[in-house]
Amino acid sequence: MSRYLLTTPIYYVNAEPHVGHAYTTIMADILARHHRQSGEEVFFLTGTDEHGAKIAQAAEAAGRTPKAHADELSSKFRALGGVLDATNDFFIRTTDPQHGAEVRALLQRMHDSGDIYSGSYGGWYCTACEAFYNEGDLEEGRLCPIHRRPVEWLEEDNWFFRLSAYRDRLLALYDERPDWVIPQARYNEARRMIEGGLEDLSISRSQIDWGVQVPWDPQQVVYVWVDALFNYWTALTYGAGEDGMRFWPPDLQLMAKDILKFHAVIWPALLMACGIEVPRRVAIHGYVLKGGEKMSKTTGNLVDPFPFIDTYGIDALRYYLAREIRFGEDGTFSAEGFDARYTGELANEYGNLLNRTVAMIGRYRDGTVPADSGADAALADEVASVVAAVTAAFDGVDITRAVEEIWVLVRRLNRLVEERAPWTLAKDPDRAAELDQALFSLAEGLRAVSVLLWPFMPGSCERALAALGQDP
Ligand code: MSP
Repeated sequence: MSRYLLTTPIYYVNAEPHVGHAYTTIMADILARHHRQSGEEVFFLTGTDEHGAKIAQAAEAAGRTPKAHADELSSKFRALGGVLDATNDFFIRTTDPQHGAEVRALLQRMHDSGDIYSGSYGGWYCTACEAFYNEGDLEEGRLCPIHRRPVEWLEEDNWFFRLSAYRDRLLALYDERPDWVIPQARYNEARRMIEGGLEDLSISRSQIDWGVQVPWDPQQVVYVWVDALFNYWTALTYGAGEDGMRFWPPDLQLMAKDILKFHAVIWPALLMACGIEVPRRVAIHGYVLKGGEKMSKTTGNLVDPFPFIDTYGIDALRYYLAREIRFGEDGTFSAEGFDARYTGELANEYGNLLNRTVAMIGRYRDGTVPADSGADAALADEVASVVAAVTAAFDGVDITRAVEEIWVLVRRLNRLVEERAPWTLAKDPDRAAELDQALFSLAEGLRAVSVLLWPFMPGSCERALAALGQDP
């Protein structure tokens, strides 16, 4: 059985989860379910990023200790995963003691390989990003290019990682694997960052203590991004049962473009320094926008997913996000758009088709799906080609195209029901064979649709399959 390791970023616990976080977790879950359905042994990892100045400041503002704050917020992210029907196999917290111990071991490995030295550094720091910026990368008025908030000058004596020494090895990785970052535009962007020259990376902090201690220097804690990136590895050492390492390397690491540099430049270099195999693929998706801007705590344009889930059900949210936001591009979340897709597509095109089909099988054939006479070979071919198209879309990590391909079949079946008009056939006993075939084709087409749609809308599709007399 082939294995598939799939990850989401671990989310910061400075604030409550919103639809932006839900988006990544849902997309990852759709992929996880698709790969399991294809017979692979999947390990799907998500969790929370809990150390560093950003979290310490949020805790202070909330009048709590960093740990109490992290416990509270992490449990909300974990609960959100449950509500989203996410089938993650583990939920890592960077405050797990096993994670901290592994991070220390990995740092020691980098130290032993000669990639770490002490130095001093001064630079413009954005706490929201937990990252330094060059003067030239800042926006007018010394604002962080991502958060558009003032950066601060930070000067420290730190431990440094010789990132600059990895330029050629990183470029070789990009040459060997033209699709290791997808989509192509993001691959090009990351490659340009490497070609443009890499500065060594400060990997410890002396002015904060909310973090993992540097093994050889108890006065310093590990830089939160290094601590966080290593989660993908440490999780397997204690969260994946015996021999969890068999899942390494990650087959797909999913995230939005805000953290491209960390995952496509810094992360592979850290792994190379530790002598660990790099991930197979990094997939970058777009932003969920609200009012033209990225949904984020900083802009304050947050959408709380819970009211939508209460009104429409979790499957509708999963479907809407997968379909509305073209995977890899930015897309807008709107209550009107949600309602339109719910009514037009889920309720009318899929729900009604299913209800009508099940009702007709009940009325005309006592609830038993008639046998196939083989008269609809063309339709069977169409179903097979949709299955192939959906599989190909998933292979290219194009989640939106996968659901669009399924919808081709949904619309085909809606046309079929109108063309065959089983209610007319039912009036004429001479056309019983035609009626049998029409009902079979509809039931069989809906079975295929429901199996294909299951990664997107697991609960609804299981109910649909049960209504069609299938074992979900
Ligand atoms: N803690 C770091 C990640 C460390 S991974 C080793 C972090 N956390 S975060 O809470 O800010 O999460 C960022 C990620 O959340 C994005 O890369 C994306 O996956 C998801 N999203 C947050 N807001 C989003 C949107 N508005 N739209 C799409 N994805 C969003 O960065």
